[in-house]
Amino acid sequence: MSVTADGAGRPARPDNPAEHLWMHFTRMSTYATTAVPIIERGEGAYIWDSNGRKYLDALSGLFVVQVGHGRAELADVVAAQARKLAYFPIWSYAHPTAIELADRLAAEAPGDLNKVFFSSGGAESVETAWKIAKQYFKLTGKPAKTKVVSRAVAYHGTTQGALSITGVPGFRQPFEPLVPGASRVPNTNFYRAPKHVADDEKQFGLWAANRVEEAIQNEGPDTVAAVFVEPVQNAGGCIPPPPGYFERLREICDRHDVLLVSDEVICAYGRLGTLFGAQKYGYQPDIITSAKGLTSGYSPLGAAIVSDRVFEPFGKGKVSFAHGYTFGGHPVSCAVALANLDIFEREDLLGNVLRNENTFRQTLERLYDLPIVGDVRGDGYFYAVELVKDKGTKLAFDAADCERVLRGYISGALFEAGLYCRTDDRGDAVVQVAPPLICGQAEFDEMEQKLRHVLSTAWTKI
Ligand SMILES: Cc1ncc(COP(=O)(O)O)c(C=O)c1O
Repeated sequence: MSVTADGAGRPARPDNPAEHLWMHFTRMSTYATTAVPIIERGEGAYIWDSNGRKYLDALSGLFVVQVGHGRAELADVVAAQARKLAYFPIWSYAHPTAIELADRLAAEAPGDLNKVFFSSGGAESVETAWKIAKQYFKLTGKPAKTKVVSRAVAYHGTTQGALSITGVPGFRQPFEPLVPGASRVPNTNFYRAPKHVADDEKQFGLWAANRVEEAIQNEGPDTVAAVFVEPVQNAGGCIPPPPGYFERLREICDRHDVLLVSDEVICAYGRLGTLFGAQKYGYQPDIITSAKGLTSGYSPLGAAIVSDRVFEPFGKGKVSFAHGYTFGGHPVSCAVALANLDIFEREDLLGNVLRNENTFRQTLERLYDLPIVGDVRGDGYFYAVELVKDKGTKLAFDAADCERVLRGYISGALFEAGLYCRTDDRGDAVVQVAPPLICGQAEFDEMEQKLRHVLSTAWTKI
């Protein structure tokens, strides 16, 4: 409890109900003067705050709530599993829901990705993948292969290994030195392509993939264990892969015996209209890392899904992978994931995304008539609108514009207008939308109208 000036033990700021809550990735000083939004309830694609105001959840919480809020069926699964077996570890033991979910993920994952290592979330899955890659090469006679390559501005989590892989300098700097051995290559933002490949998406894709080979060669192929990439890169604003990118990347990884890790913490479980993001673009990873939408957030869970080839040396003799998490493969979370995937099938949510993704794009593209909208990009139900100061020259927001207009106006105004989504300047300034997979044209129109209203006013403030 905080201590008051009069020493009576009353909270120092009784008007701040979140006084003791340290919010994540939050400038806490903001809430010294303004009230923190408190979200109390959700139903379908909508959420309500503590004042009873309704918002369209155009970010699925945090790219999580694929089936929408308020599914009593999933809450019932939580209660039933907690009654039956609330907790047991998967450290040398198994339990039925973890077994069943691993079977199901192995059956659905592309190619020979057949071994499922559960964690409690995304960063833990990324840590797991890097450690698997390191030990895999030690077990197969290439012990110097320990390094990783990832892409500029990409976000892969905040634990120290995952943060090393993350390419957002501002997130890394306060925690340096991080885990050594991670280097970065350009991402695939075609809107910001270098001049010599700016007219040809395919050439741009090959150029970008070749930068990975260059990085492997610079580091020394004998020292590089894995490349971490998202199917569509989130940070920087929903950056899709250009045609041919993943085909070339696979060739490069094969040539240099480097594992291709597809970080699908956002892109798996229907976000792009396929169960796994790699399936959307037809490439074969060695490991998929996932979390978020696996349970639609009704309980936390992550999973690294590993190929037979990579697992093979771990399955022999006295070898074990000395790695795990108390809550990895939690029985309740696994039961929820199974029921969540049942809903995907029963309601054909992947089909819903595939049927609607073009009209979603077209609806957002209407915003191109606004002078502030430079680019609309993404795939499936995962889109970003990049904001510019001059469409002709693609002049980006600078740090002061981001502070004053993006953070200072757009972010609050969208929420005020009843649209919960994300403004982001980890790369260039973007607004991101990633609605629950149950959404359709009515919600697309609502997003477009609210974005139009706020972005039109934002233009007058530049
Ligand atoms: C691609 C990617 N990897 C890893 C993470 C980290 O996941 P978590 O926050 O569950 O640790 C995220 C989180 O957004 C992500 O988008």
